[in-house]
Amino acid sequence: MRLVPWQPDDMLRRLDDVVSVYGEAMGYRAELLQTRRGYIGAHVRRAGFRAVATLTTEGQLAGFGYGYASGPGQWWHDQVRSALDDAARQRWLSHCFEVVELHVRPSAQGHGIGARQLRALLSMADGSTVLLSTPEADEQRSRAWRLYRRFGFEDLLRDFHFPGDERGFAILGRGLPLTERVPAEGAPGIVGI
Ligand SMILES: CC(C)(COP(=O)(O)OP(=O)(O)OC[C@H]1O[C@@H](n2cnc3c(N)ncnc32)[C@H](O)[C@@H]1OP(=O)(O)O)[C@@H](O)C(=O)NCCC(=O)NCCS
Repeated sequence: MRLVPWQPDDMLRRLDDVVSVYGEAMGYRAELLQTRRGYIGAHVRRAGFRAVATLTTEGQLAGFGYGYASGPGQWWHDQVRSALDDAARQRWLSHCFEVVELHVRPSAQGHGIGARQLRALLSMADGSTVLLSTPEADEQRSRAWRLYRRFGFEDLLRDFHFPGDERGFAILGRGLPLTERVPAEGAPGIVGI
């Protein structure tokens, strides 16, 4: 396995694989994936776009992560902004990187790839804070939650409802840069950046 930074065009070239990994990881239906495909294709052009991918030795996509500068006028940013008070907006949204997607193919999960991807993405990100949303779940049982907590993400909002989605989400954040040592150093067989 090797971890590589991706430029926007790298992501567009592998969009079928990206959507496939995303669908497998989240267990989403094909119709929803087509919509997400459109969003992802547009996201690569946003300011501050950063992406990483994990490739097998045969070049297959095992995982990916991406994000961009979060700002007014973006749907996600505006939803979160509207739910925060002035002090929280100032602290968290002034110069913020959003981790939009982070996924590992189920067959490759549990070997440190997700942590490696997150660490690499945050080391490339521009911002003084990083935010993300993740479905509410049992923190001890959810691999995503355990990963974010290990990286020091704290709660901004819990059981937050985005319009049109009946699931509750947590909005989590932490400061940048990643100054302290976070996990995922030395995962075997993975080349860092
Ligand atoms: C969340 C997700 C990205 C995490 O990726 P991952 O590769 O499975 O996560 P990691 O391997 O880095 O961490 C998983 C475990 O491996 C362990 N690990 C870390 N480095 C390791 C290594 N070098 N060797 C073996 N295990 C290692 C971690 O301690 C961790 O243990 P835990 O899950 O029991 O807490 C991935 O599971 C996923 O895509 N899930 C479904 C989609 C999803 O929830 N995405 C996030 C939505 S917001």
